[in-house]
Amino acid sequence: MIELKERVFSGVQPTGDLTLGNYLGAITRFVEMQKSHECIYCVVDMHAITQWQDPAELSRAIRLVTAAFIASGIDPAAHIVFNQSQVAEHAELAWVFNCVARLGWLNRMTQFKEKAGKNRENASVGLYAYPSLMAADILVYRATHVPVGEDQKQHLELTRDIAQKFNNDFAPRLKELGYPDGFFPLAEPLITGPATRVMSLRDGTKKMSKSDPSDLSRINLTDDSDTIAKKIRKAKTDPEPLPSEIEGLKERPEADNLVGIFAALKGEPVADTLKTYGGAQFSGFKQDLADLTVEALQPVSSEMARLMADPGHIDEILRDGAARARVLAAPIMDEVKKIVGFVR
Ligand code: AMP
Ligand code: TRP
Repeated sequence: MIELKERVFSGVQPTGDLTLGNYLGAITRFVEMQKSHECIYCVVDMHAITQWQDPAELSRAIRLVTAAFIASGIDPAAHIVFNQSQVAEHAELAWVFNCVARLGWLNRMTQFKEKAGKNRENASVGLYAYPSLMAADILVYRATHVPVGEDQKQHLELTRDIAQKFNNDFAPRLKELGYPDGFFPLAEPLITGPATRVMSLRDGTKKMSKSDPSDLSRINLTDDSDTIAKKIRKAKTDPEPLPSEIEGLKERPEADNLVGIFAALKGEPVADTLKTYGGAQFSGFKQDLADLTVEALQPVSSEMARLMADPGHIDEILRDGAARARVLAAPIMDEVKKIVGFVR
């Protein structure tokens, strides 16, 4: 019998540069969770290859996400930072989960539909099965809490469905083996904070994303000060001045987004930001927002650059993290094999 412990797990895909959305929606939350929990943060390289990745670019992106984690304040000695492909148990458990999850469940996943686009027949099987691998990432550690941005909500519901079905399907066997309440926890999504959904700077109804064709739509963690200022200056807005109350942001997605980013970076409630800027024109507000963004990201990006100059050191951190992750995952995977009835 393996005891269930409170544990945090989350992942970020190494596909291109990280954005301000990743930073505010996920990484700053990851940093916070370290105070109260044992945390495992994973660079999900096997998820990345569900869509074509240039091999050299993939290696660079794995190191870049690792550098972003550390530069933002994740402590790889006190917690675990590693890349997914170094811990084979993720793939092993994902296979079992492919046999638990139902086609109908995966057919409902909106991210697959978005990513596959019109030519669905040509999407990889991996892209379709992506949520089973994500469930395996979390449950191979029997993690209980998962900090993510809003866009991952549906995948986490599926993770709970998979855990629940596994627990039900094997219930008699689990009782015998000392797990009367089930083996996998129903992991709780932590979608909290002021910026769980940072929107594109060009279109306030679309998520800020690494894969948007327009670089002006996002702020990258590696952008320099001038680029950040330029992107914010060019950000889409409407002709009205800023409102002084939160209700005034309704139906104004671009204003809502910029004010949300400001409040998140400043660490204040949106109402306070509006108290300061209500009635002001966007031009002055944008100048202050640019200054604030540069001030917040500059230390992160310069530390990332310093870390990236020594890739060997990053690789060492990942190898060490993977070794420690394996120590946690291996006994859980062994137990799964026993539960399923595999002879070992
Ligand atoms: P990804 O880059 O898709 O691997 O996402 C890594 C993490 O960042 C996930 O928890 C996402 O939910 C979060 N994230 C990505 N884009 C945004 C965004 N625009 N706003 C808030 N969170 C985001
Ligand atoms: N699917 C997540 C994303 O695109 C990344 C991810 C993979 C993840 N495995 C995870 C997030 C496990 C949380 C927990 O953002």
